[in-house]
Amino acid sequence: MSASTDSGIPEAIPPADVSRETWNSPEVDTPIGAEAERAVRLMQAAVQGQLPRPKRQRVFTVANQKGGVGKTTTAVNIAAALALQGLRTLVIDLDPQGNASTALGIEHRPGTPSSYEVLIGDISVEAALQRSPHSERLYCIPATIDLAGAEIELVSMVAREGRLRTALGELKHYDFDYVFIDCPPSLGLLTINALVAAPEVLIPIQCEYYALEGVGQLLRNIEMVKAHLNPELEVTTVVLTMYDGRTKLADQVAMDVRAHFGDKVLRTVIPRSVKVSEAPGYGMTIIDYDPGSRGAMSYLDASRELALRGGDEGGGDR
Ligand SMILES: Nc1ncnc2c1ncn2[C@@H]1O[C@H](COP(=O)(O)OP(=O)(O)OP(=O)(O)O)[C@@H](O)[C@H]1O
Ligand SMILES: [Mg+2]
Repeated sequence: MSASTDSGIPEAIPPADVSRETWNSPEVDTPIGAEAERAVRLMQAAVQGQLPRPKRQRVFTVANQKGGVGKTTTAVNIAAALALQGLRTLVIDLDPQGNASTALGIEHRPGTPSSYEVLIGDISVEAALQRSPHSERLYCIPATIDLAGAEIELVSMVAREGRLRTALGELKHYDFDYVFIDCPPSLGLLTINALVAAPEVLIPIQCEYYALEGVGQLLRNIEMVKAHLNPELEVTTVVLTMYDGRTKLADQVAMDVRAHFGDKVLRTVIPRSVKVSEAPGYGMTIIDYDPGSRGAMSYLDASRELALRGGDEGGGDR
């Protein structure tokens, strides 16, 4: 699908109700001023590192079987924003396309220890962990093309839906605050493994036609996994992505999604932005690629909402 709506309108012109607080600042009346102010806010967030650590490690499956809705972009950018604010974060790339690995600048050529070997139990999590070149608190378990065969290989394996959960049991020995599992655009065994392994589901929904198409099927699958394989499973977070404030459609979709999911939908909406789509080409998240952009600010805001609304939940101290 198309990555941008670059119609010649400058990036810094904000669509309605996105990045409101920075744009409406009375002192800032130019696009460059607004960009500088956003970059300063991001730096301050990094220096202060003021987000609370969750009481328990939070593990999210990022899923939507619709392709190109912003699963990977949301997983890597929220993860990078949390890491920027002092939290130890892991992204598990469970998509044979390897987009999350690319976006984080992580080696994932064939032969690299990856989520495939972890899933089938050949290697430990430790053997596949790589640290991001851009953050000492951001880690990734990459996906290689080997994972493409896993859907079929898994079919004949014992406890095929619970393989990732078993493998990730090891994660309790690591001090990660947040773990995001980036799923492929399907409801096959890879996505099922992710749903069995994580208590929380994050659904990115693109503000476009047919946004909710297929979401019913996803929710039914989630209910099935919850009933039979993972009673803890809940959809806790919905993120509206690629919002284009120049269209009435985007507002309509946002309203429909909020009517359907209520307060699970983050107030922060991710704007459609050329910079966001450019960043993976440099092996970077938007946080590193252009900290002064509206895209970076929106993912920073989204990460704060996600951490502040769930940070106190969960049992026991660590
Ligand atoms: N806010 C945004 N503004 C502009 N482009 C975006 C934005 N978010 C994502 N994109 C672009 O849209 C495309 C799809 O995004 P992404 O890869 O995150 O979706 P996905 O749901 O993970 O896709 P897949 O189903 O193939 O895994 C990518 O080219 C990405 O760069
Ligand atoms: Mg993806």
